[in-house]
Amino acid sequence: MNRIVEMSNSLSNMISAGEVIENPVNVVKELVENSIDAGAKTIKISVIENGLSFVRIDDDGSGMTIKDARMSCKRHATSKIFSEKDLLSIKTLGFRGEALAAIASVSKVDIETKYKDNEGVRLSLEAGYIVKEQSIPRNVGTTIIVKSLFYNTPARFKFMSSEKRHQIQLRQLFYRFSLSRPDISFELIEDEKQFKKTSGSKNVKVVMDELFGQKYSERIDSTKIEIQNSVINIFYLPPLINVSNKNYIFTFINNRISNNFILTEAIIEAYENLMMIKRYPICICYIEVDPTRVDANIHPQKLKVKITNEQIIKYYITNKLKEKLTKRNQKLYTYKSESSENYKPQNLDLDSYFKKEELEEKEISQKLPNLDYLNLLSGTYGLFQGPHGLVLLDIHAAQERIRYEYYINKFKKDFNFITKRIVPFDLSLDPNILSELDKYKETFKSYGFEFDNFAVISHPKAIREKDLDYAVDIIFDRINNGKSVDFSSLKNKLAKDVSCKSSITGNTRINRDEINVLYKRLSLCEYPYQCPHGRPTLVSLSYKEIEKMFKRII
Ligand SMILES: Nc1ncnc2c1ncn2[C@@H]1O[C@H](COP(=O)(O)OP(=O)(O)OP(=O)(O)O)[C@@H](O)[C@H]1O
Ligand SMILES: [Mg+2]
Repeated sequence: MNRIVEMSNSLSNMISAGEVIENPVNVVKELVENSIDAGAKTIKISVIENGLSFVRIDDDGSGMTIKDARMSCKRHATSKIFSEKDLLSIKTLGFRGEALAAIASVSKVDIETKYKDNEGVRLSLEAGYIVKEQSIPRNVGTTIIVKSLFYNTPARFKFMSSEKRHQIQLRQLFYRFSLSRPDISFELIEDEKQFKKTSGSKNVKVVMDELFGQKYSERIDSTKIEIQNSVINIFYLPPLINVSNKNYIFTFINNRISNNFILTEAIIEAYENLMMIKRYPICICYIEVDPTRVDANIHPQKLKVKITNEQIIKYYITNKLKEKLTKRNQKLYTYKSESSENYKPQNLDLDSYFKKEELEEKEISQKLPNLDYLNLLSGTYGLFQGPHGLVLLDIHAAQERIRYEYYINKFKKDFNFITKRIVPFDLSLDPNILSELDKYKETFKSYGFEFDNFAVISHPKAIREKDLDYAVDIIFDRINNGKSVDFSSLKNKLAKDVSCKSSITGNTRINRDEINVLYKRLSLCEYPYQCPHGRPTLVSLSYKEIEKMFKRII
């Protein structure tokens, strides 16, 4: 008797469905992609229980003839590519002819569709087989209803049902689709309640407004790069508006959601040193390249997209964006009192750095305006009178910024120059660290440090004597924790940490002259408005705000 037999179609579909359809979010992604490929201008997504019990996608795309509708849920049936050559130059989001078959094999699906002036039709499928066909009246376009997902694969269903995270993923997907195609109106209805709707205005700022509100949309700037037959459009928010995860960095390649790690990194790098650690920017990047340069076929759920010359594109994005962020009209942030009439509580799921405070920016034409020093508040904040009102200077943050830029410039120029000390510098570090230094002496040597009997006898010229303890401590910490010690990031980390540790920590005596010098030096910095970790150095309270507080004006 033969032991090897061919699988039935339904069984092999069910198995391959596992690869394409892992959860309800994949279902929505595949169906919406089909609607986009069908040329829809309006796409409505409705889900119940985050899609597990019910998903419905309505579109006004081309629709299908009854013959095409019957074919659409067969495996490897597609209208999108016909030859191997087509696979190398894909212009549609779908191309494998797998999604509908995969979804239909693990759920109950209704396909309602009408093509041009053909009669509308409804096909009902169970476990991938058509169980009913009927004519229906409807408009041109398609509605796909997916019920009881994974009803015939109980193990997977059980695994799914408790998952709350699908709602977050679904919303993220909705944001991504909406931004990927500003010309299409997307709507998401969750358990019969509208979550959000975009208007299909073709305008990225309008979409941002519709998704996240005016507070974000009005702060967007944009820039364009043209290189090697590629066009890159970047829409970005200033570094002071930031979030705790990378989900608001959107990268699209030929309007396809790309989830491309290198492109995301390109954007994060541009914001480096303008933000606190573990905070991420809000930025949307559209890359248009020749379809032959795109490989969308590297992931079973088409979740990742690659392009050739990624590193070059990364280089241009980082540089251009960095240049823009630093040249951006310098802006001073004013604290807006909560009693102000305009105060609106945040209704967004974005968590900006200034969660509780509403911020409003005031343009100041120069890099830093001339200010008159008034006094010191709690040994920490310098109070100044400026042309627009009261300005508070965080002395620690300002010093950090000044020192950081000093070190970065120094390190750029002469990190490799070594000073041999005539008088060794006695390190005053934790004895446990001192006793371990010898163990790492070769690594330290590669950074220009040499020791003799717990004292530094040579070090990079760029590091001042005062900061030697900090520098050795930082390098030791990195080596000891087994962290990779790549040279340029080490220099950056050293500059950041040394500047932070050696700056005034607050509650200090500082006289009028010293604080005026501090302010002058800050205004000479390349980025005077934030410390290297992204905290603001200056905050202002405008006269208007003060008058509002005292109810002189309403
Ligand atoms: N909403 C829709 N409007 C019009 N035609 C559709 C729609 N959804 C699916 N189709 C048709 O059904 C076919 C099969 O869809 P399916 O999603 O299974 O495969 P695909 O989109 O071709 O490739 P992939 O598996 O990569 O998504 C499509 O090629 C398309 O012709
Ligand atoms: Mg598809």
